[in-house]
Amino acid sequence: MSNEQMSAMVIPEFGPAEVLRPTTVAVPEPGPGQIAIDVAYAGANFAEILYRQGVVDVALPFVPGIEVSGRVRALGAGVEGPAVGDPVAALTIVDSGGYAEVVVTAADLVVPFDETRLSPAVAAAVPSNSTTAFLVLDRVARIEPGESVLVHAAAGGVGSQLGRAARLLGAGRVVGTVGSPAKKEIARQFGYDEVILREELAAAGEFDIVVDMVGGPTRRASLDRLAPMGRMVVMGNASGAADVGLSANELWFTNRTVSGFNLAAFAAAHPVETGAAMRRAVGAVTAGELIVQVATLALDRAAEAHRRIESGATTGKLVLEVAPSRSGSRGPGPGRGARADQSAMAANMPAS
Ligand SMILES: NC(=O)c1ccc[n+]([C@@H]2O[C@H](COP(=O)([O-])OP(=O)(O)OC[C@H]3O[C@@H](n4cnc5c(N)ncnc54)[C@H](OP(=O)(O)O)[C@@H]3O)[C@@H](O)[C@H]2O)c1
Repeated sequence: MSNEQMSAMVIPEFGPAEVLRPTTVAVPEPGPGQIAIDVAYAGANFAEILYRQGVVDVALPFVPGIEVSGRVRALGAGVEGPAVGDPVAALTIVDSGGYAEVVVTAADLVVPFDETRLSPAVAAAVPSNSTTAFLVLDRVARIEPGESVLVHAAAGGVGSQLGRAARLLGAGRVVGTVGSPAKKEIARQFGYDEVILREELAAAGEFDIVVDMVGGPTRRASLDRLAPMGRMVVMGNASGAADVGLSANELWFTNRTVSGFNLAAFAAAHPVETGAAMRRAVGAVTAGELIVQVATLALDRAAEAHRRIESGATTGKLVLEVAPSRSGSRGPGPGRGARADQSAMAANMPAS
């Protein structure tokens, strides 16, 4: 740590959204193999709510923030690039700290992007959910061409990435579920052949792959939708329901598989592979193959972002503005080419 001070949004104690406090803390410096980033935007995620609630035990006071966009501020020993000043998207999930003016993370988890083709606000939303989408389908579910895929909460942050990622990876039928009729139309743009209400699940047919981040009764119902040799990936519990016990004997008798995925643990254990998946995700978003819909809020409204996410009413992604002027662009705008326009439309979709 240096003597220099910066602003950060801190969790001083576990509790409701109101515990989040703007605080002055020491600017972190990069250790060997790390990069320090001047943050422009920080993604707001369900994970940060779990930290704030104490569901995931972290040492307090704690600066949340698992992903950012910004510019390289300084390189730690042994790091050769990107250059100081380059625009980058970074996964900060291993040590958190993204809700701040400066964050430090492993160089393997930092990916440069082209600001003329990808808005920094959108870039901040890519490292967690878009990367997770590729890792879950490819690395964990080991998707094969033509396989059918069912994704829950299809209009949400990670759900909005999984539909199109499945398409890019050669999926056959891709179906999304949502919790309310209003979200059906929103989810359709995210690569789903069909979007159904979660209560209609029993009539949805069988799937080779199911991705469940909702948990509770949805988890049990999802296992029932799995085809023989099908794989269900458990990757969240957005419903907050009690853990669901699944029978190992049932898996044995029915040739089904249940796997788990956690990006924080994966990135800590496999930073190079995580970085490769991030580059793939940044490339797909830059090319318009993945659509990332963001709505922005100032960092000092982080509590409101948390409340909105916890309400279950949001679609796409909320991104916090830390210092947007640092990005060299005040968000997406016209005149930056066809691809940039596509990102701009995605970034400028109505906040919810
Ligand atoms: N394992 C990992 O590495 C990883 C990575 C990214 C995300 N996740 C997990 O994936 C889940 C979704 O994350 P996200 O970033 O996509 O968040 P999100 O955009 O807020 O999506 C959560 C969605 O879950 C559904 N939901 C169902 N019951 C809910 C309830 N009681 N309260 C709130 N939402 C409820 C809602 O969609 P409907 O209205 O359609 O029901 C809601 O929009 C979270 O559990 C998160 O922890 C895990």
